[in-house]
Amino acid sequence: MAKTLTPDIDAKRLYASIRELGKIGAYRDERTGLVGVNRLALSSADGEGRRLVVKWFKQAGLEVRVDRIGNVYGRREGLEPGLRPVMAGSHIDSVPTAGAFDGCLGVLGALEVARALNDHKVATRRPFIAAFFTEEEGCRFGVDMLGSAVATGRIRLEDAYVLKDQAGLSVKEELGKIGFLGSNPVRAILPHAYVECHIEQGPILKRTGMDLGVVSGVQAISWFEGVILGRSCHAGTTPMGYRRDAGVAAAKLNLKLRDWTRSGLFGRDFRATMGVLRPHPGMVNVVPGRLACSVDLRNPADSMMRRAEKALFVHSKKVEKEEGVSIRWRRTAGTPAIRFDPSVRELIDEMAEGMGLKRGRILSGAGHDAQEWSRLCKTAMIFVPGEYDGISHNPREFSTPKQCADGVRCLLRTVLALSQEGGR
Ligand code: GLV
Ligand code: MN
Ligand code: MN
Repeated sequence: MAKTLTPDIDAKRLYASIRELGKIGAYRDERTGLVGVNRLALSSADGEGRRLVVKWFKQAGLEVRVDRIGNVYGRREGLEPGLRPVMAGSHIDSVPTAGAFDGCLGVLGALEVARALNDHKVATRRPFIAAFFTEEEGCRFGVDMLGSAVATGRIRLEDAYVLKDQAGLSVKEELGKIGFLGSNPVRAILPHAYVECHIEQGPILKRTGMDLGVVSGVQAISWFEGVILGRSCHAGTTPMGYRRDAGVAAAKLNLKLRDWTRSGLFGRDFRATMGVLRPHPGMVNVVPGRLACSVDLRNPADSMMRRAEKALFVHSKKVEKEEGVSIRWRRTAGTPAIRFDPSVRELIDEMAEGMGLKRGRILSGAGHDAQEWSRLCKTAMIFVPGEYDGISHNPREFSTPKQCADGVRCLLRTVLALSQEGGR
């Protein structure tokens, strides 16, 4: 029987869980002395982190299922098991230089929702699922939101399985190695709603004095892998005019991207990054004859994104001519701008207002699993502010216990409201 008491989270337990999971894959940054997290998708650390969270899911009485792409779902039964579940989650894989909060807050927040419902003996009408998804970061196998993209049908399982990391190891092999090549079908979950609590990963909420962000959507993301081919030769003997330097070509492209972000040619919020620049042979006295690189473009407007992509290809042709190199691009990821469901956003806002929180509307600069689920069901996100200008993908990443608790308390209330809703 449902109790009438309003359930609440245990903020200390939530924070302790974040800290505990953060010990897995922990490393000390040599330069700053800070402790960060390196839990690349499907690494042994990811496997260890997954096993800990699965253990916690089971201790919370959740029925755990792993699908064929390694996504993990922990189900808490509802009074009407035939109704579509309400789902909350995120990811626990990390970039190699992460903090303890990116993704983990959403997963452990969803776990905390289940724990709080148990503590207060609350029976919800709809089932509730706490979940985490494989390779959200895209750092290891090159495609972001991989697990949720497969679960929601954007990427085919066969295509995901054959993706390889730098060492040539495939997603399928690596899933098997850490024991998370599940047997449950992908595309089997159709939620009533999906809500994700995540750190903002930027400075806006803190700078504007907000306690919480109601996320309006996610900007478009485009990733390309590039190979620039020039000619390796002697750095001391080859006159400058005789060179076909792949490194110089990459530098020109990088600077052009920055010019575009500054000029506002593709909108004032256009962002561009060349995060990978790997010259070959990478020796002090050899002109680089080959260079592998990446381009990450972000834009709130799809039309501007298309124009920026086109401009990159056109400019590459120019650089090819100027530097005597050839440049090949391959798209590795691309997602359109997403708008979250207005009714779920409103619900989050209402819940946060009831908690007396100052909240701001915010567009997500980062990609999230929520954008994938938004194709299947009504979806929205809650952002939690971060300290130090919200720095993320960095060991300094930090949100206070209060900031995390506000976000997860709001998640609990939102999940509770959604799980009482009617319909299928
Ligand atoms: C993923 O988190 C991204 O936005 O790069
Ligand atoms: Mn994340
Ligand atoms: Mn991230």
